[in-house]
Amino acid sequence: MDRQIKNIVILTGAGVSAESGIDTFRSAGGLWEQHKVEDVATPEAFARDPDLVLRFYDMRRERIQQVEPNAAHYALARLDAEWSGNLLLVTQNVDDLHERAGTKRLLHMHGEHLNAWCTACDVRHGWRGTLIDRPACPSCGISGQLRPDIVWFGEMPYRMGDIYHALNRADLFVSIGTSGAVYPAAGLVREARQNGIATLELNLEPSHSSSWFTESRHGPATELVPQWVDELLGG
Ligand code: NAD
Ligand code: APR
Ligand code: ZN
Repeated sequence: MDRQIKNIVILTGAGVSAESGIDTFRSAGGLWEQHKVEDVATPEAFARDPDLVLRFYDMRRERIQQVEPNAAHYALARLDAEWSGNLLLVTQNVDDLHERAGTKRLLHMHGEHLNAWCTACDVRHGWRGTLIDRPACPSCGISGQLRPDIVWFGEMPYRMGDIYHALNRADLFVSIGTSGAVYPAAGLVREARQNGIATLELNLEPSHSSSWFTESRHGPATELVPQWVDELLGG
């Protein structure tokens, strides 16, 4: 990468949490295979069978509280702490492993498992318990209006304006552990290429978007990410 690197945008997907023990979505036996996507991750599914959807996310919310960040999360947190230029980590993941590893400059574009969103008063609350029992909203007191704060298929991801703003001033775009199967996240590399900046993919295997990257490295995130961060920070 020739151009002086000052401003970095990183996109992470389920692959960065895979080695922490959280199922990815599309690898063999991945999350969706236990549930058809349209049965759990769409507003229509929630309207049709709210108990199924609430139980699915209650199970996921409990699961992510039982796992730990891995070496990839910690390497990214080190980069966040030591990088003097602008850096934004955009994650498609809804777990809290980047936060727990220490990353501060972080944006969840698909929401967060450990939040509940009240559709009555629009307030989001940190939430570690279950929603199946239709708890009352701590703000408005209305019961049964709290939903997972997760962006479902067909809904708009969060803060796309902030993401494009960061991308337009970036010198480097790095994608880690994502299949490039879901838009608009999967389209960010094209935006970066149109801006003429360096693009790097770190993924277990070639993704749907690999051909858009100026460089692709394949292997487990717990190996590739610490190695890349060492290179960037000079060891
Ligand atoms: P999607 O990937 O199905 O499609 C998003 C849009 O991009 C659609 O308009 C689609 O037509 C378009 N698109 C898809 N493939 C394309 C391609 N190859 N080239 C160009 N355009 C393409 O996502 P969605 O159904 O709009 O879902 C919206 C958001 O919800 C997505 O960001 C998704 O990641 C998110 N989501 C989150 C979860 C979760 O549990 N966190 C689950 C499902 C979806
Ligand atoms: N190290 C690096 N990459 C890995 C590892 C690993 N240990 N394990 C899996 N991967 C890669 C897989 O090769 C795959 O390309 O991570 C990617 C995971 O892809 P998906 O399962 O499709 O997950 P993701 O790309 O995050 O899905 C995007 O789709 O369902 C929606 O909103 C949901 O955020 C999700 C989005
Ligand atoms: Zn409320």
